[in-house]
This record gives sequence, structure tokens and C-alpha cells, in this order.
Amino acid sequence: MPPCAESAFPETLDAEEVSTPESELSRRTFLAVSGVVTAGIVAGLPRVAVAQTSQSAPQTFPVSLSINKQMHQLTVDTRTTLLDLLRENLDLTGSKKGCDHGQCGACTVLLNGRRVNSCLTLAVAAQGAEITTIEGLGDEQHLSPMQKSFLDHDGFQCGYCTPGQICSATALIEETRRGDLSRMSFETGKISHPEITDDEIRERMSGNICRCGAYPNIVAAVRALTSTGGAA
Ligand code: FES
Ligand code: FES
Repeated sequence: MPPCAESAFPETLDAEEVSTPESELSRRTFLAVSGVVTAGIVAGLPRVAVAQTSQSAPQTFPVSLSINKQMHQLTVDTRTTLLDLLRENLDLTGSKKGCDHGQCGACTVLLNGRRVNSCLTLAVAAQGAEITTIEGLGDEQHLSPMQKSFLDHDGFQCGYCTPGQICSATALIEETRRGDLSRMSFETGKISHPEITDDEIRERMSGNICRCGAYPNIVAAVRALTSTGGAA
């Protein structure tokens, strides 16, 4: 046996060694002490549980939001995300819950004209904001230019990611009008109102995942509007 194993694992314990009065005393002392500690913990449990219950009781807060140009005065649980508020409380189910972790973009909505992941936005943090969801961009009779462009370019397959893609692309048009930059703008060195190339579109839409892989048609749908300045 190598020395290290020898020191770490004594081969056997002598039975007498285990049951000497001294070790027995230690064991009894240990059990008594641990019993007292355990009893103390158990005795303390109800108070801890009560404290936790009162801490985790829902806290509500009044918020007023304009959603698709309609004012809503709501009292919300402070833990409610904007996505859950839209879907579960207001029946606006166009915004989709893909990952619920800010990774897929299916929940993208516009908050004061800027795109946000509504699964990462607390409803109370949107107090006073103007929210636009896919339902507010247009309807079957009056499609928005981006909705129409997605249809014209077949920019979807199953459609699950599409509301988020369209909201994101709608904000992208405004961003390019403002001259907002992306990582690609710095790579190409065009940092003053960069030309919106396909690479720029891919970079700027990279927060929106399409599991069907409809990317070429999504890029075409967005490009059609960036090249016309966003007009239909
Ligand atoms: S559901 Fe919000 S980013 Fe995926
Ligand atoms: S169209 Fe199916 S996930 Fe994008």
C-alpha cells in the first residue's frame, strides 16, 4: 500500500478502540449535544417558516400602462413579468414564451419604441410606458409594413418566433433611421449611419432565434424595408 493510502485509510479499526469508555463518552456527549442542537432547530422551525411565509407573500403594486394604445390601470404582483402580464392577464398571446430566460427573442415587444425581451422585464418596471405588441402593429385587414414584408418573403415556417421577429425588425428600422450602431458597424468601420447590409441585419436580428431556420427569408423581409427606408 502506498504511504499516502496508508495514512488516509487505516486498514482496520480495533473493536476495543471503538468501544473504550473514553470514546463511548465522546459518542454520548456528541449525541447529547447534537440532540440539543437538533431540538433547537426543530423548535425554531415554525418561527422561521412563518417569517419566510410572510416574506414570500405576494406584494402587489399599482401600474398604469398603455398597451397597444389602450390605457390599463392594473394591480400586479411585483414578481410578474411583462410577458406573463400580457399573456396571462390581458389575453394578448401573440408574444410567445420560448425560453423565459432572455435567450430566444420570442417574447420581444416594443417599450417606448425600443425592443425588449418581455420575459426579462418586470411589469412594474414598465410603469407609465407605451407597450406595443404584435397585436398592436397591425391586424389582418391592416398589416404593418413589416408584417406584410414577412408574408411577401415567406419569412416564417411554424410561426412561433414570428411575432418576436416582426417586433424586433420593426424596431430595427427605427434604429437604422436613428443611425444606431451594431457590433458589425464597428467591424466594418462604418460608424456613421452604416449601410444596412445583410450582415448588419443578421447581427441586429441575432437576438431572435428561429428554430425552423427561416433566416434567409427573414433577412430578405427586413432588407426589403431597410432599402426602402421602412415604407411598405
Ligand atoms: S421567451 Fe423571452 S427571450 Fe425567450
Ligand atoms: S418560424 Fe418556426 S421557429 Fe421561426
